[in-house]
Amino acid sequence: MRLFAVINQKGGVGKTTTVANLAYALAERGKQVTVIDLDPQGSLSASLGIDARNVAGIDDVLINESEISDVLVMARENLYLVPAGKNLRQLEQHSAGSAAQAKNLKAALKSLDDQDFIFIDCPPASGFLVISALFAVEEILIPVASEYLSLHGLSHLMGTLNMFEQSLGKTFKQWVVITRFHPRRKLAQDVYQSLVEHFPKQVLSTPIRETSALAESPSFGKTVFEYRGGSNGAEDYFSLATDLLKGRTL
Ligand SMILES: Nc1ncnc2c1ncn2[C@@H]1O[C@H](COP(=O)(O)OP(=O)(O)O)[C@@H](O)[C@H]1O
Ligand SMILES: [Mg+2]
Repeated sequence: MRLFAVINQKGGVGKTTTVANLAYALAERGKQVTVIDLDPQGSLSASLGIDARNVAGIDDVLINESEISDVLVMARENLYLVPAGKNLRQLEQHSAGSAAQAKNLKAALKSLDDQDFIFIDCPPASGFLVISALFAVEEILIPVASEYLSLHGLSHLMGTLNMFEQSLGKTFKQWVVITRFHPRRKLAQDVYQSLVEHFPKQVLSTPIRETSALAESPSFGKTVFEYRGGSNGAEDYFSLATDLLKGRTL
């Protein structure tokens, strides 16, 4: 089983888009995949066309130690979703969780050991929820939008991850995925080049191009494959799934 936290404290960089579409691409290839909506906004559930506003989700697992199997929703063939649940927000806001509570997620995920892939869609923050995810995973996927300010945020994020690694005595496998890429823009090329320089063997080979199909598909509750199968977005996320399976980097 491979367990990923998809993180970046910046919003709008493509975390949720990446979780939904990458998970779908892997599920379509016969992998067993579970995605966890750890963002109180609940965009992942909505992106997959599931109205989870009134159901219990990962909030119940973290607060009441419910079993994950009680809150799993079948989203597609081979693809399960754990919704956020409406009490997740309160957990993040009060930073209520203790260090012990931050380990509940890790403990709960053990019951999913028949899965090939688990992706945790994290909120754009660095509080209790993200820390819970960091306790739970071995691999980290960082979507980085190809714009100038992305690089600033990224060095901060890497610093936080390093501190966490040292205090926990564990090492993450870290992957960067370039998102919202405009192949013909010089700035995007510059960001691309510096990512490859700074993070050798960590940047997954396929940059995800900015594509209208990717922007539109969530409002139909569809992945890009279902919404517009022949689009650049579908091509890119299919190829990114191969990158992840093969460890293919730039
Ligand atoms: N490659 C892309 N091309 C076009 N629109 C995109 C792309 N990636 C993400 N988006 C859109 O940008 C917005 C933010 O993406 P999202 O995945 O929700 O980011 P995050 O989860 O990091 O906040 C969404 O409306 C999404 O549809
Ligand atoms: Mg999101």
